[in-house]
Amino acid sequence: MSCQEKPISVSLSPNTQKDDVSLALKMIFKPNEWQKGKAIKELEESFKKYLGVNFAYSFNSGRSSLEAILNALGIKSGDDVLIQAFTCNAAINPILKVRAKPVFVDIDSTLNLSIEDLKKKITPRTKAVMVQHSFGWPAKLAEIKNFCQQNKLYLIEDCAHALGAKYNNQLCGTFGDAAFFSFGRDKVISSVYGGMAATNDSEIAKKIGEFYASIDYPSQAWTLQQLLHPVLMNYLVLPAYGCLKIGKAFLSFFINTGILSKAVTKNEGKGVLPSYFPKRLPNALAVLAQNQFKKLDEFNSHRQKIAKIYEQKLSSGKYILPFVLSGAQNKTPIFMKYPILAANPQCLLKKFKENNIYLNDGWAGSPIVPSSTCLEVFGYEKDSCPKAEQVAQKIINLPTHINITAEQANIIIEMLV
Ligand SMILES: Cc1ncc(COP(=O)(O)O)c(C=O)c1O
Repeated sequence: MSCQEKPISVSLSPNTQKDDVSLALKMIFKPNEWQKGKAIKELEESFKKYLGVNFAYSFNSGRSSLEAILNALGIKSGDDVLIQAFTCNAAINPILKVRAKPVFVDIDSTLNLSIEDLKKKITPRTKAVMVQHSFGWPAKLAEIKNFCQQNKLYLIEDCAHALGAKYNNQLCGTFGDAAFFSFGRDKVISSVYGGMAATNDSEIAKKIGEFYASIDYPSQAWTLQQLLHPVLMNYLVLPAYGCLKIGKAFLSFFINTGILSKAVTKNEGKGVLPSYFPKRLPNALAVLAQNQFKKLDEFNSHRQKIAKIYEQKLSSGKYILPFVLSGAQNKTPIFMKYPILAANPQCLLKKFKENNIYLNDGWAGSPIVPSSTCLEVFGYEKDSCPKAEQVAQKIINLPTHINITAEQANIIIEMLV
């Protein structure tokens, strides 16, 4: 691989294209449009139209969106929230923030909530179920919704990975009492940081609106930090990845000096959210998110095409494939990533890295990722979700994003078989 060529990776600015970089660069020179502006409403309106919901509020992350929803539902100290293990600490911290208790449910073979374990984990204190659609594969929504209705529980959809995925031909994010989406740097669409809370319930919407009114925009410095991300990644970090590994040194330098942000801070692994949550989505990032949102169908069709290649060429091999289209039935997955389970993921990741292919996205090693997360802080008891723990030791996520060509997917496959 030569200098100037960007590496194959699963999570290094995966969704960013030339037009996104130009837009970010342009926005850097318009500081008076960073906070308030018309893109915020435009994005919220686009979301409402796309999802077919009545209310959508933008925030600066999935984390802020979830905090708004939990507040709106009145979830508080003494309440339990059922949530799947094999999730990110970012999905749990807002639950701790409102002083409720996350109760962990094991996963099924599709890395989503196990209905069997869900039924075992309900307590008299349970107030809500939060359902994740892992890597864009829809969870068993009919069964979960039924369970919630029978037990009078709120259903919150964590659609951080699932914008555009469908269940029974209906978009994920429209089944529960409320849903949230993420526009994080390696999510379905990206504005580096960003999120949306959506609901059809006018009472819940009113309370989310009150929460929104009570919080502020992030600082100008924080917004600039996010605008710099696509620009520096595109012009400095990624082109230098194949060139004596200088790119990685650049990235560490930018993050350590605070020029660029981290997706999840170290302290979040200890249950402490940074002060830039909860905040509203600033206009500058709404501009970036709206540009990506226009490309959503193209992104997801591409992901489905690449996933098909992996499935066809890896299904008869030595890997377990949690996502197999023939088993999708009533689900239309979007394959934000394509997970495989391997006996020796560490050896494989090392081999890929030696070839300048970066497939370590941090979604491994622990039932709550990143693996540095302190499980005790989150109340996770070892062995309580054995399948999630096993998957965490075996998973590798293959890239499906718009910057991965079929040819590059085949290079990955050749190294795997
Ligand atoms: C499953 C899941 N839920 C929620 C979140 C939180 O989203 P955000 O990073 O936008 O706060 C993330 C990502 O961090 C996630 O992977």
